[in-house]
Amino acid sequence: MPTPTSRYAVFGHPISHSLSPRIHAAFAAQTGIALDYAAIDAPPERFAAILEAFAAAGGRGGNVTLPLKEAAFALCTQVSERARLAGAVNTLVRNDGQWHGDNTDGAGLVRDLTGRRGLDLRGRRALLLGAGGAARGVAPALLDAGILELVVVNRTPERADALVDALGQPKRAHSRYWNDLSNQGDFELIVNATSAGRNGSAGFSAPFTLVNSRTLAVDVNYGQVAVPFLAWARAGGCRTVVDGLGMLVEQAAESFKLWHGVRPDTGPVYEALRARGDNLVTAE
Ligand code: ATR
Repeated sequence: MPTPTSRYAVFGHPISHSLSPRIHAAFAAQTGIALDYAAIDAPPERFAAILEAFAAAGGRGGNVTLPLKEAAFALCTQVSERARLAGAVNTLVRNDGQWHGDNTDGAGLVRDLTGRRGLDLRGRRALLLGAGGAARGVAPALLDAGILELVVVNRTPERADALVDALGQPKRAHSRYWNDLSNQGDFELIVNATSAGRNGSAGFSAPFTLVNSRTLAVDVNYGQVAVPFLAWARAGGCRTVVDGLGMLVEQAAESFKLWHGVRPDTGPVYEALRARGDNLVTAE
């Protein structure tokens, strides 16, 4: 049973807008587990030292967000298979004086889609846009969820090739060129895991021939960053359009379970964040 001084934190740069402290405080209140969960700003060059100081001060676990997920991977003594495939860690667990790394992003995405929204991913032809840390985090979970085929497209094609190679499923996962998207047919699932919206890109551009009457479009981002892709998905007639807020709450619940052995009820926490409005996109 954790003591009231059990310390957890999310590390990122910048971090002030992170919803993770709010989410974990809600989980803690719901489950009656006393914990302290902070947001810690860690410039990349100081992340290792900041994480060490956190451990020395009683830090038991952490979440890691942009741009530190690959650095966190490198700082772990052990990593889970899904973190190894991603080459990125979003969850740190302190064990025997060492950091163990996991990646709950993909499980969070699949849980949001199949659990909360009751969508069936099985048999869907899926297009994954992007091949960075976020894409590598979700790709294995999509394959595990029973999608028929995964086509990975990235601005820099070599990264898409590397992701597909790492997945090790040559019959189901393929890489294709972005400028050849119009020749790829249509998809029942399109996942945007690029950071284009984060860099201030005004629009998202891809052929509407990718969309069919069943297409579920998902952005792993939420808030303003997701706006360009979600607008494209609606304009293209996607049947269901989803942002990454549910995934955020679900990946947090997976982390919470790793630390505390209890899976919180994510429904009310998600609803509260969605109702808060602010800069969040209403996806449905
Ligand atoms: P993250 O951890 O969010 O995945 P990342 O590892 O830096 O961040 O990866 C960013 C992803 O968004 C990459 O797939 C990147 O494409 P490149 O590999 O070619 O860099 C993609 N991306 C970023 N800006 C983009 C843009 N304007 N158009 C298309 N893809 C973009």
